[in-house]
Amino acid sequence: MRRRIVAGNWKMNTTYTEAMALVDGLKESLTEEVVGETGVIITPPALYLSDIVESLVENPYIAVAAQNCHEKESGAYTGEWSAPMLASLDIDAIIIGHSERREYFGETNEACNTKISQALNNELAAIYCIGETLEERKSGAYMDVILKQCEEGLAGFIADDMDNIILAYEPVWAIGTGETASPEQAQEVHAGIRAWLTERFDAETAQDVSILYGGSCKPGNAAELFAKADIDGGLIGGASLNAADFTAIIEARTKA
Ligand code: 13P
Repeated sequence: MRRRIVAGNWKMNTTYTEAMALVDGLKESLTEEVVGETGVIITPPALYLSDIVESLVENPYIAVAAQNCHEKESGAYTGEWSAPMLASLDIDAIIIGHSERREYFGETNEACNTKISQALNNELAAIYCIGETLEERKSGAYMDVILKQCEEGLAGFIADDMDNIILAYEPVWAIGTGETASPEQAQEVHAGIRAWLTERFDAETAQDVSILYGGSCKPGNAAELFAKADIDGGLIGGASLNAADFTAIIEARTKA
């Protein structure tokens, strides 16, 4: 059975003090009733991961992920960090292929493929992001773009690997813009991805993979998105920086 998941991507936001305060706020607001069966993941800046993992040692609800890793295990790559380093901090997952990394850092599907291997080889889950730009959406060929990202990013993996890979559909035109894909637009893409997973792997694997929606998901629109059959949860940017908003989105997932 696939999991319902709400993950917060903090991006390059929060000072250390703000980050620790946000974690404290979430520790208070995320009760058993709010969380239920929902998997909750936060993705703070890498600098704070160690302290945040420590502060959550006794918290049963919040898993911790990184926003990126390098393609190599170690070496002369000044300013970078690797999957083995992240694994040594006892985190749970790594976001890979976020559209901001694709756009600003030239990350290709092939690089994402290597990074997903790095995550899995180090016993970390991968949250693999895919999604089309506004031009690609307007051209009508958005599904081709998304399925190419799936095909190339997931090349070489077998069905068992999908136990540790979460997919996140994030239309680039909806990220940080206040514009959200309608529940119907998002459902269409999620169903298309699941159909592709059925062909590429098998029906059981396709049913078991969690596919999250990201792009201006907020307390006000989360419930209608999560009500759709193939939308298993959300990857939340801006609204995950506010404990009350993030909590409300988790609650919407738990109750939908
Ligand atoms: P926003 O929720 O701020 O649109 O960001 C979505 C996102 O990019 C999550 O990874």
